[in-house]
Amino acid sequence: MATILVTGGCGYIGSHTCVELINSGYDVIVLDNLYNSKEVVLDRIKMITGIRPKFYKVDILDREGLNRIFDENKIDAVIHFAGYKAVGESVSIPLTYYKNNISGSINLYEIMKDHGVKTLVFSSSATVYGDPASVPIKEDFPLSTTNPYGTTKLQNEQILKDVYVSDNKWSILLLRYFNPIGASKSGLLGETPNGIPNNLLPYIAQVATGQRDFLRVWGNDYDTVDGTGVRDYIHVVDLAKGHCKAIEYALKHEGVECINLGTGHGYSVLQVKDAFEKACGKKIAYKIMDRRPGDIATCYADTSKAKEMLGWQAEYNIEDMCNDAWNFASKNPNGIE
Ligand code: NAD
Ligand code: UFG
Repeated sequence: MATILVTGGCGYIGSHTCVELINSGYDVIVLDNLYNSKEVVLDRIKMITGIRPKFYKVDILDREGLNRIFDENKIDAVIHFAGYKAVGESVSIPLTYYKNNISGSINLYEIMKDHGVKTLVFSSSATVYGDPASVPIKEDFPLSTTNPYGTTKLQNEQILKDVYVSDNKWSILLLRYFNPIGASKSGLLGETPNGIPNNLLPYIAQVATGQRDFLRVWGNDYDTVDGTGVRDYIHVVDLAKGHCKAIEYALKHEGVECINLGTGHGYSVLQVKDAFEKACGKKIAYKIMDRRPGDIATCYADTSKAKEMLGWQAEYNIEDMCNDAWNFASKNPNGIE
């Protein structure tokens, strides 16, 4: 079976993807600088799968470190998760974001090229669609961004399209994730944001565990079912399984393709809150606030390309996502430690 290097493999989506890759029989090597994660995640992966992936504590900005990984291992393909991901922070420290997400990624692509490794799955984001003119969003919709984080995703997509034009032996899948939430059913892996969470689910979970007093709902005057923002939430395990399908496809086909990974269904903030209340058996206090700058009303995916090309579609519903997120949050109130 093929050997897959997973950059950012100790992080939220990367760790769940390692589990699915190992369960599918792949050999997995993890690269992470542990900026936003902990090495103990690898022990948790072993508790679930029986295998602790080989680990390199390496920064993608460190070319020597990267070279060493490719010299020491016969790598067939790379899944590239490593990067910074906080939208608001990217506005305050854009250069840090461009350096990590662009310069770091270019290092990785160059070193892959030097070692003849030309199969890559890249973590892009639905943020590249900006404020879409309509929903569901198809892959050929116009692209734009409203913050440096989003720009790093769009620029990586463009760089990789150019790489393919220069050498059509590459096989590159640009996966545009919608809103990943939830956690491994085992309760051993999940999302543990640092500081005050920006994203909806970790914030709701902290209200449920008593770490926050109430949920701030960013606006209820959008043109949506109840006025609150609508998003396409996708279970992180479904997303991880999508990566296995993507790797399977990429190992067999040359080309460059963008693919949405979502469920195709939109839920409002208040609908998610209601589903979480059912999952945790507690009331989630909330207050309606002004709109959050940069937010859009509605975002959900057209998922037909993933279905046709990868033979993949999401299986879990919003109840599963909230149950599994609560299972993880209640078992790990201080995150993975
Ligand atoms: P995460 O922060 O949990 O995981 C990213 C991992 O990369 C972390 O373990 C971090 O330590 C590591 N990392 C960061 N910079 C590094 C560097 N220079 N060298 C080596 N390792 C480095 O984030 P996540 O939610 O798992 O997201 C994974 C990828 O998916 C990111 O590229 C993110 O932008 C993208 N994405 C995430 C979401 C989301 O909502 N979570 C949505 C769309 C796209
Ligand atoms: N929301 C609240 N209160 C909160 C947090 C969020 O009401 O405390 C609302 C937002 O206004 C939005 C919805 O919940 O309507 C989802 O917000 P998130 O911050 O969880 O997610 P976003 O859709 O804003 O952004 C996420 C990722 C981005 C990614 C984008 C598109 O954080 O990195 O999805 O995929 F680019």
